[in-house]
Amino acid sequence: MKKIEAIIRPEKLEEMKKSLSLLGVHGMTVTEVKGCGNQPKQSGYYRGQQFTVDLLPKVKIEVVIPDAMEDMVIDEFFKVARTLQVGDGKIFVSTISEVYRIRTGESGENAL
Ligand SMILES: Nc1ncnc2c1ncn2[C@@H]1O[C@H](COP(=O)(O)OP(=O)(O)OP(=O)(O)O)[C@@H](O)[C@H]1O
Ligand SMILES: [Mg+2]
Repeated sequence: MKKIEAIIRPEKLEEMKKSLSLLGVHGMTVTEVKGCGNQPKQSGYYRGQQFTVDLLPKVKIEVVIPDAMEDMVIDEFFKVARTLQVGDGKIFVSTISEVYRIRTGESGENAL
């Protein structure tokens, strides 16, 4: 199993949820986060006050999926969340060694 952690633009969340659901991915965790990527932080003056923008609001979607779905899910993020502007986000993939459904004790892909 793989965990896909995708940091995307907040305005892409609703469409991404719909797309994942159509792919058969139903279990997910969504968190509002703040982050920064590659770009140097921006600063300037607003009404005489200096400000620095270094952390921007983003949304993190975590989904744990069978290995066989990895490419499909990643492609869906590319399709939906890509605007080609800086700040589209990032996807981190890691291997999950076990999953348990607490209610039934099921494990592995059956517990997803
Ligand atoms: N190396 C990283 N580690 C952890 N989180 C990251 C990393 N890079 C980006 N993020 C998260 O992803 C969000 C979006 O990053 P962003 O899309 O700006 O990446 P980037 O590498 O700067 O690419 P781009 O040049 O397209 O903007 C950040 O706000 C941050 O939350
Ligand atoms: Mg960036």
